[in-house]
Amino acid sequence: MAGQVNVLVVGEGGREFAIAKKLQESPHVKQVYCAPGNVGMPTVGVKPVGIAESDFAGLIKFAKEHEVAWTFVGPEDCLVDGIVDDFRAAGLKAFGPSARAAQLEGSKEYALNFMNNYNVPTARHVSFRDRTAAIAGVDQFGFPVVIKENGLAGGKGVVIAPNRETAVETINEMFDQGQSRLVLEECLVGPEYSMFVLLSNGHYRILPMAQDHKRAYDGDKGPNTGGMGAYSPLPQLEDADRQRIIDEVVKPTVAGLVAGEYHYHGILYIGLIMCEDGPKVIEYNVRFGDPETQVILPRLKTDLFELVDKSLNDEDLPEIEEDERASFGVVVASKGYPQNPLHGQLLCEFPAAAGINIDFANVTGTLDELKGNGGRLLMVETLASTLQEAHDAVYDYLNSLDLPECFYRGDIGAKAGL
Ligand code: AMP
Ligand code: GLY
Repeated sequence: MAGQVNVLVVGEGGREFAIAKKLQESPHVKQVYCAPGNVGMPTVGVKPVGIAESDFAGLIKFAKEHEVAWTFVGPEDCLVDGIVDDFRAAGLKAFGPSARAAQLEGSKEYALNFMNNYNVPTARHVSFRDRTAAIAGVDQFGFPVVIKENGLAGGKGVVIAPNRETAVETINEMFDQGQSRLVLEECLVGPEYSMFVLLSNGHYRILPMAQDHKRAYDGDKGPNTGGMGAYSPLPQLEDADRQRIIDEVVKPTVAGLVAGEYHYHGILYIGLIMCEDGPKVIEYNVRFGDPETQVILPRLKTDLFELVDKSLNDEDLPEIEEDERASFGVVVASKGYPQNPLHGQLLCEFPAAAGINIDFANVTGTLDELKGNGGRLLMVETLASTLQEAHDAVYDYLNSLDLPECFYRGDIGAKAGL
């Protein structure tokens, strides 16, 4: 690691904003480029590059021309489509799993088979390719029953059906909309957490944990979204339970990746529910979470560049040092999200305030005249000595803004007693 280098981040959302910002803060980094990035990124010194995430050839060309040391891939669809394999074939390093390993997120059925093969605890489940069989299978789970589309759905392909009627309706809708496979699962009960593991082909480090808020509205009501807010650390999770997650979930997962000879230098995000009889995995994601990344990276004292660089070079990984302070963030989304979000509303100015970070995501226009571009627009986040202080600072700031045609949840952190 001699001198400063350039790196490229692929993606355009709040997650990529947080990754790019953190990398730009590293003393090893000269310039972070982000493709395609968003118009808010220059506020943290990151340069957006007008190349689409899906244009792998264009990204490879850019990386070569701009002496990019390596590329950090944010979103799952690029990974499932084989961006890391393409970069490697071109002689370039990219941080993320191979397409084969990305099936752990790309196909629920694949992930469940992996968990069965390597004894990773998960919900009781059956996958179906046939509508009639799926409908007939509903009763074996009792209600509520969890119904999942097999493929990528941006966190929105899961329905928890409270009764038989809704379950049948959901199954019919999913098949009508062209799904060829779906999974039925028992509904697990317990608090839900996100665990992030940085992998280096069999070696790993546990990153700070966070809790997401998937439902659109207060009180966990409304449809599932990509995530409406998050905080870290988790005061309600005891050290012994965190250790159980590592022993019972992370270790068999990593052992399975090694046994299956997967190429995996990247982030594995394990979504799990802490049930009475122990942790159970509800999903693997093969990348960082959004919005969890926006709250965990500010707490990461270990240099993110060094972690990624050493992983990609198969060198010993540094230990993880977590900031003692707490991080808390609330997502501002466009009215109508997730079903039918508005586009193009003019956003207010975001006055500088001590300690408050604005992680821009789906915004367009110019920095002087920012407009919403549908979906989750930005996150307001801060670090403070306690979660309560961070919570109060973020909500005080949000309450001072004028955000017409937008909404945010008012109860982020309620499960941590905030
Ligand atoms: P996923 O797309 O797999 O992340 O699922 C979206 C959300 O559905 C999760 O964050 C959970 O809140 C919920 N969920 C998924 N699977 C289950 C399950 N087996 N039991 C209870 N809730 C679940
Ligand atoms: N926050 C959920 C996800 O990134 O999938």
